Amino acid sequence: MELIHTVAELRRYLSGAPDNVFVPTMGALHEGHLRLVEEARPRGALTVVSIFVNRMQFGPNEDFDRYPRTLAEDCAKLEAIDCDVVFAPDEREVYPEPQSFSVDPGPIATVLEGAVRPGHFRGVATVVLKLFNMVQPKAAVFGKKDYQQCRVLETMVRQLALPVDIILAETVRAADGLALSSRNKYLSPDERAEAPRLAAELRRTAEAVARGESIETAEKAAHAALAAHGWRVDYVTVRRRTDLAPPTAHDHELVVLGAARLGSTRLIDNLEFVRPFSPSPSGSGLG
Ligand code: PAF
Repeated sequence: MELIHTVAELRRYLSGAPDNVFVPTMGALHEGHLRLVEEARPRGALTVVSIFVNRMQFGPNEDFDRYPRTLAEDCAKLEAIDCDVVFAPDEREVYPEPQSFSVDPGPIATVLEGAVRPGHFRGVATVVLKLFNMVQPKAAVFGKKDYQQCRVLETMVRQLALPVDIILAETVRAADGLALSSRNKYLSPDERAEAPRLAAELRRTAEAVARGESIETAEKAAHAALAAHGWRVDYVTVRRRTDLAPPTAHDHELVVLGAARLGSTRLIDNLEFVRPFSPSPSGSGLG
């Protein structure tokens, strides 16, 4: 496995290997990231993983400084699963001058995470576009755990005609249902025991809506259940999958997304589900 720190070195190494599949990460790798690499490996001749904690996607009061940085452990994990290249640039390599150009992802980046974290998706889209230009992959793999990020990046690739296939991988969960995340490291033992409630409430919401309960009632119940156990809830909301707009009566492929704080740790999660078609007397098509 090659550990590369500069764009020049990366370009030299990849010059004869256009058939690479890319997994962008911010490091602190866990089983979820390793699944992304496993998803990437059979799809190309070389698997490239980037490790870069991107200041541009963190708000001024967010956890950029305390975000875990574990390069040696990350490299050992990647070597063990036959990753070919780790690209770990420093900030000056990615942002050699103040970044005055950026990608404006438009309306999809202003709701949910984008509303709570203004500028976040501009930072994500800009760094991912730069990383795509550095690595020039034929495909890139992202985890559905960051559902809105997946939608933002798919839209960017489509609307800017980037020659990169976006592959989405399912969320990896602990046995108790908690979605794996680098930020789980911040949880105290008590918080870790409580943390699976977010996934459980999303499941309950999805099941209730699939049974025909109103979306608003199901969302409110999840919100109340989390708040009753000490969570500070940013949102629990059912959206249609394609553009994360509130579903109309005709939308059946849905996703419930949640974001909430446990102590000082903010967790996000989501669950895709289908609301079955059931004709109603009003003709709305939904019960
Ligand atoms: O999902 C992440 O880890 C980051 O948002 C990404 C895509 C690596 C961009 O910094």
